[in-house]
Amino acid sequence: MQKTTEYLRHHHGGDGDKAAEKTVQSYAKNHDADFRQFWDRHCAAHLSDQASVIDLGCGTGLWLNELAQTYPQAKLTGFELAPYMLKRMDNLATNVEIISDDLNNPTTELADNSVDIVLANLLIHELHQPVTLFCKLRRWLKPGGVFILCDMVRQPLADYLQHQYADIDLASQTPDYDVLVNAFQHFQEHNRYHPDDLIQLLQQCGFKIAAADTFKNGRAVRIAAISV
Ligand SMILES: C[S@@+](CC[C@H](N)C(=O)[O-])C[C@H]1O[C@@H](n2cnc3c(N)ncnc32)[C@H](O)[C@@H]1O
Repeated sequence: MQKTTEYLRHHHGGDGDKAAEKTVQSYAKNHDADFRQFWDRHCAAHLSDQASVIDLGCGTGLWLNELAQTYPQAKLTGFELAPYMLKRMDNLATNVEIISDDLNNPTTELADNSVDIVLANLLIHELHQPVTLFCKLRRWLKPGGVFILCDMVRQPLADYLQHQYADIDLASQTPDYDVLVNAFQHFQEHNRYHPDDLIQLLQQCGFKIAAADTFKNGRAVRIAAISV
């Protein structure tokens, strides 16, 4: 767990409090109208006050808190490991429970066939491998339960640099060395998977794909996978 925490702190830019603030500031963008439309299309039929919903890598817990406003009796569970995210979780609704666990190899045991919906919004690219988690989710989800996976996917280096590091002047005689190292390391960490890699891995782990929509000009994907 310690190793993962250190990896995450570095991946999140080295300053935990700043990373937590950025997650709060990005909340609206990461849960925008298109996300909500996709969510409603695939999850509305599973949502009720009796539902059990998990948000993996839930950041500061804002999505669960929002769900709690409509479903104050639902069982809403967030998984998170980064101490700076856990620290920023104030005013959680009474039906939101947070579990601190390393999703690379979760030790948490939930009852088989007990969960209706799982969301992983921008989590999977931060894991060293997702298979252990996918196998557990398959067991936890009820047959027909839905796993929503949203994440960045592989993109050309030029596109990545343009969107994430627009201020680096590559034509300068001396681009800053540390900034470059950081940019190229993050390029790898944000470019682990092609959408087909995620689709095929999910299928190999026993999910049926209901939808896979790319967005941000192909730089990200939303997948709805059904546990069968
Ligand atoms: C990019 S943030 C997205 C946060 C939130 N899902 C959102 O969309 O606003 C990814 C989150 O996953 C968490 N995370 C990454 N790896 C994790 C792991 N191995 N175990 C638990 N949480 C993890 C991070 O700490 C971070 O809060």
